[in-house]
Amino acid sequence: MIDPTARCPKWLIDRIRDSGGSISFYKYMDLVLNDPENGFYSTGKLKIGKDGDFCTSPSLSNDFARLLAIQIVDWLLDLEKSGIEDELFSLVEIGPGEGTLSRDLILAITDIAPTLISKMELVLVELNVGMRKRQKKVVNNLEGIKFRWSNIEDLTLRPVTGVIIANEVLDAFPVERLVFAENKVFRQGVSLRKINDEYSLEFVDLRPTSAIMRFLQDSNSLLNIEFPPKGICDRWVTEWHCDLPTWFEQLSKILINGSLLVVDYAMESKRYYNVIREDGTLISYRNQKANPNILKDPGLSDLTAHLCIESTVNYALINGWKFMGETRQGQALLALGLSKFIYSLQNTFSQDLSGALNRRESLLRLVDPMGLGEFRWLAFQKDNGFDLMLSNRFLEEPIS
Ligand SMILES: C[S@@+](CC[C@H](N)C(=O)[O-])C[C@H]1O[C@@H](n2cnc3c(N)ncnc32)[C@H](O)[C@@H]1O
Repeated sequence: MIDPTARCPKWLIDRIRDSGGSISFYKYMDLVLNDPENGFYSTGKLKIGKDGDFCTSPSLSNDFARLLAIQIVDWLLDLEKSGIEDELFSLVEIGPGEGTLSRDLILAITDIAPTLISKMELVLVELNVGMRKRQKKVVNNLEGIKFRWSNIEDLTLRPVTGVIIANEVLDAFPVERLVFAENKVFRQGVSLRKINDEYSLEFVDLRPTSAIMRFLQDSNSLLNIEFPPKGICDRWVTEWHCDLPTWFEQLSKILINGSLLVVDYAMESKRYYNVIREDGTLISYRNQKANPNILKDPGLSDLTAHLCIESTVNYALINGWKFMGETRQGQALLALGLSKFIYSLQNTFSQDLSGALNRRESLLRLVDPMGLGEFRWLAFQKDNGFDLMLSNRFLEEPIS
């Protein structure tokens, strides 16, 4: 399959040639996002927000952070009440993007529970240097809280107690793409094709690894997921988030007691591995436009793949996490009091009409079932000898 618009830049031609002429799709996704000199994230070319490549919930306004902070404060107070005597509670954000969520969470926690802040530190875990530079500009102005950047390996050596947040980061983890054709499964690869002196990218079929075959068998025997589902078209494609098992294992080593909240594009296995989803869930984003052509503009656009809920939960469980529950973002934010935020706008309408309308639009976008409202919140807990009872306000019935 050749897409003449999927031109391959020189740096990527070299990488593919160095690897013998083709690379796995997993390697391709890792390079175009995280290659230290050319990746979309590592160079910091990516911009998140209304004027950037795509919006995330915290990039719309600080309302997402103010609502999420209510849940984080509940968890931290529960930890305090349970008798854990850590001097410091850590709020760890993995993949902090522009740094706005970290900053706005700290500001909101300072408002809601000022006494907690003096017992807290903020830890930012960012893979890419370009993004870390951008985060520093946003977070360095915070006062009254200790903050630092770290990485998962260092945190494993000095584990923490507290709350870990991963908002829209797992969808950016490289995935394996699997192609089902003629009753066989292939690992999707990416190769070069020369057309009129220019190199384009094309998909090729590679032999599946033993890890891929194990994933298919385990999904069937442990989770009852049928691969492939009956009635698929020829060359039905899907994804496997193969880095998740290791990620949950590492995270279970960095958190002694506390909770982990994953917020991301996700769906149940029945919808994910479905006959009608014949090209998987991967999509590319650039300048606020979604593009199904995932080989276009390598290193200049984002790539994102949904999570399968059952597989994600299973990887957490086998790595020592307890699953507290999951819900859609719209429900979670309403349970945390989003409708009160909307009612309170009435007071500001008369003084600043356009400000109030903008804020109302941002609040509604957070719960829009056709957009961010469909994101899933998955919460896990880790306890080490303590009988932790963490309250999950975000799972309760929405309050009006
Ligand atoms: C889509 S952005 C999400 C940003 C932010 N959480 C938000 O909601 O606005 C993904 C972020 O995760 C970072 N990232 C990607 N893979 C990562 C990994 N394995 N560990 C830590 N950060 C990672 C990227 O560099 C980027 O900052």
